[in-house]
Amino acid sequence: MLNINFNPFPNLLSDRLRLRRITADDVYEVFLLRSDPEIMKYIPRPLAKNKTDAMDHITMVNKGVADNTSINWAITMKEDNKLIGMICLIRMQPENFRTEIGYILHPAYHGMGIMHEAVGVLINYAFNILGFHSLEAVIDPDNKASEQVLLKHHFVKEAHYKENTFYDGKFLDAVVYSLIRPA
Ligand SMILES: CC(C)(COP(=O)(O)OP(=O)(O)OC[C@H]1O[C@@H](n2cnc3c(N)ncnc32)[C@H](O)[C@@H]1OP(=O)(O)O)[C@@H](O)C(=O)NCCC(=O)NCCS
Repeated sequence: MLNINFNPFPNLLSDRLRLRRITADDVYEVFLLRSDPEIMKYIPRPLAKNKTDAMDHITMVNKGVADNTSINWAITMKEDNKLIGMICLIRMQPENFRTEIGYILHPAYHGMGIMHEAVGVLINYAFNILGFHSLEAVIDPDNKASEQVLLKHHFVKEAHYKENTFYDGKFLDAVVYSLIRPA
């Protein structure tokens, strides 16, 4: 069984990016991401309607950090503290040494390899620092950008569940990708 402890909070760095804790100061940027139907198109979660919803989201993700059950980072460019996206390890299964990865990025920063870079940082952190054995990503089959990010990191498609998710009056498909820690 894995022993997870996010205290002190793990700030992570890559060439261009800093991954840090999400705080109340990020509420506007979190609202921008979570309220936009285009950005949230493939994420079956209710849209944030106002800053209170965004603040509730921040409180929720930081509870996961405090409980050591999940962790969300703000993605920022190194030279600027502004949150431009978020990346997380959620639905941790310490007994199986397995966890799920999720991410979202503001469209102004799409197509620059930013999420490729951030996912690379998390793969290293999840396998080599936390000690997980496998990572899972659950995506909408139409989410080609997300699929590309996963394929470039050698995630393998493991399942295509038909209409297994009921959201907003519709039954949605879910595709599962996974990455096993290299031996
Ligand atoms: C998925 C997401 C994080 C990708 O971020 P990003 O920083 O733009 O990703 P990258 O630049 O690292 O790579 C994106 C790749 O997808 C490709 N891509 C983008 N849109 C595409 C499309 N509609 N069809 C096919 N490929 C597409 C890009 O060309 C790029 O490929 P490349 O590396 O070969 O050039 C971003 O699109 C996003 O935040 N989407 C909304 C939230 C979301 O869906 N999150 C994932 C939920 S599982």
